[in-house]
Amino acid sequence: MSEALYIGLRLRLGRGTGLTCVLSIANQKGGVGKTTTSINLAAALALKKKRTLLIDLDPQANTSIAFFSPDETQFTTYDLFHEHGCELAKVVRPTKDPNLFVAPARLALARLEQQLAGQFDAPYKLKDALAPALKDYNYIVVDTPPALGILTVNALVASTHLLVPIQAAYFAIEGTDDLLETYARIRSRPNPDLKVLGVVITLYDKRTNISRDTHEQIRATFGDALFRTRISKNVRLEESPAYKETIFTYAPKSSGAEEYRKLAQEVLQRVEEDRVARHSQDAA
Ligand SMILES: Nc1ncnc2c1ncn2[C@@H]1O[C@H](COP(=O)(O)OP(=O)(O)OP(=O)(O)O)[C@@H](O)[C@H]1O
Ligand SMILES: [Mg+2]
Repeated sequence: MSEALYIGLRLRLGRGTGLTCVLSIANQKGGVGKTTTSINLAAALALKKKRTLLIDLDPQANTSIAFFSPDETQFTTYDLFHEHGCELAKVVRPTKDPNLFVAPARLALARLEQQLAGQFDAPYKLKDALAPALKDYNYIVVDTPPALGILTVNALVASTHLLVPIQAAYFAIEGTDDLLETYARIRSRPNPDLKVLGVVITLYDKRTNISRDTHEQIRATFGDALFRTRISKNVRLEESPAYKETIFTYAPKSSGAEEYRKLAQEVLQRVEEDRVARHSQDAA
């Protein structure tokens, strides 16, 4: 790509140009680090001066509880899914970081599967709710529940990219087939532009053979899609949500903070490379 084309693209990367990265964090396996990654990746992007919105689509609301008490939450992502659903702006709340915003969840989200059954536009609800707000953010990170139901489908339909956390543990890869099949189905119809941004190994423990073996297995399966950064087991990552802190305010010098900073750098780089590649294709 020529420098002129690259500069031209850079000039168009400001707010409101339709170049917001909407990144779903998904894996239907429970407890693999989706929420920990959503919170700390979003926080790391905000620290890099990207205006970032973190959306909680999990009825467990673990991401939301890491920022706010449930009793101080009025509107939630549940309200985005109804006929005359409320605007995203009413749901979004500021955080201590001026570049980080959160759309909290509540348990009622669990009822949506039944409530939306039979509605032809059920998979598009989140996409429609996000549309008017895309210009306001550089990054939108979506935390999803451990299931491939209507909530995860809504996240994938609304997203430009998918990031898959995989725990360094036996049987870690089992189940990713179903996720990748859902991804392929969504790409074939409602969202052909969706791309896998990458796979990240989480809960890695370099002292154990299990971690080392599974790392090799994951690398063999996913090749270049695997991020170079691994997220190690770090007790600070487990503790920080209880204090309503991200890892960057709770333990900025911990390995968890260092690794999520590096992961954010890789995410920024891959998103940028993808934009350049897409732009070259459009221009060709
Ligand atoms: N790198 C890590 N080091 C130590 N603990 C971690 C790490 N990542 C996640 N945890 C802990 O592991 C548990 C599961 O992590 P998390 O909630 O992020 O997973 P999840 O995939 O979102 O789970 P669910 O599928 O239930 O939504 C949590 O208690 C979390 O604090
Ligand atoms: Mg979670």
